[in-house]
Amino acid sequence: MKKSAAALLLCLGLTACSPIEDGAVPAGGDIETALSVQTEDTSVSGTSFTEISEDSKMPETSEETTISETETTLAEETTASQTEIETSEITDETTISEKLPESITLSTYSVELTVGGKKMPVVTMLPEDCSDKSEIWESDDTSVATVDGLGNITGISEGSCTVTVKAAANPEVTAEVKVTVTAVPQTHGEPTYIDGILIVNKTYALPADYAPGVQPEAEAAFKEMQSAAWSEGLNIWIASGYRSYEYQSGLYERYVKRSGKAEADRYSARPGHSEHQTGLAFDLNSIDDSFADTAEGKWVAEHCHEYGFIIRYPKGAEDITGYIYEPWHIRYLGKETAEKVHNSGLTLEEYLGITSVYSE
Ligand code: DAL
Ligand code: ZN
Repeated sequence: MKKSAAALLLCLGLTACSPIEDGAVPAGGDIETALSVQTEDTSVSGTSFTEISEDSKMPETSEETTISETETTLAEETTASQTEIETSEITDETTISEKLPESITLSTYSVELTVGGKKMPVVTMLPEDCSDKSEIWESDDTSVATVDGLGNITGISEGSCTVTVKAAANPEVTAEVKVTVTAVPQTHGEPTYIDGILIVNKTYALPADYAPGVQPEAEAAFKEMQSAAWSEGLNIWIASGYRSYEYQSGLYERYVKRSGKAEADRYSARPGHSEHQTGLAFDLNSIDDSFADTAEGKWVAEHCHEYGFIIRYPKGAEDITGYIYEPWHIRYLGKETAEKVHNSGLTLEEYLGITSVYSE
């Protein structure tokens, strides 16, 4: 199993100070577990820097491989589906030409975004077996929001506009989305809540003196999840929990020294920008890509929303969340919201229509 440099560096950073100093909850159930975690981490920190800097090329290589495999699969699927269409055109021309789209329904008819934020309503075109479900999207004011051919709406500047989707095969069939774009809220030294959710990412910072410690509700939810996993023979524990502004500052500086600012920004938050400062985020077990392939990692990915958590930085979403895939980093949102975000299949940024980019 390949290890990304980011993951290794995170491990190294964690070992620079004991998990308990780090504010981690010794949630493995006992001190022995916490100690065994520390021992494992220490052995990782014995890895030489040369080895790590070579590893730093690995995520790109592995992404490239994945992309080319996907492309191959897509190409094969396209060929297969073209063949099916051609065959069905020959055998059943009447059916194909007769069933025009009759209606469009959307998952939402009103969208709220911040400038730069994106949202994409899901379209249902009926009848189910209509001949052509192609969509034509249009914004009546592209200075406020633009929309691409798939229905991705992007906030451009403050204001309101209407985005319309038409059925290409029957342009009389339309649906409208009212779009409201607001400015990115200024934090003014206060934490930012969007739709009642405390949001911390590259756009939204926490003040340096925001130091709530681990949140009891999140810790209780973790313990409930840990017990459920244990009853299935799986052991999950918190390797890194609450981190203060100052602690994150030291961690980030070390990563910048080791891999440069641009690379560090891909896997480590600048001080004030880490979810760990909320007391609502936990890193579980091994802080390594390989966690995703362990029985524990798979279980967490499948079940954490049932306990109020989401996998905050999913695979392939770096340009949206601002961070590389972190299968080990979970964020507590409460059961109701976590279920909704999980079921949407979206990142938290997409769910809320917000950005995650540093202003400089
Ligand atoms: N690794 C995550 C992004 C953090 O530093 O908070
Ligand atoms: Zn984390």
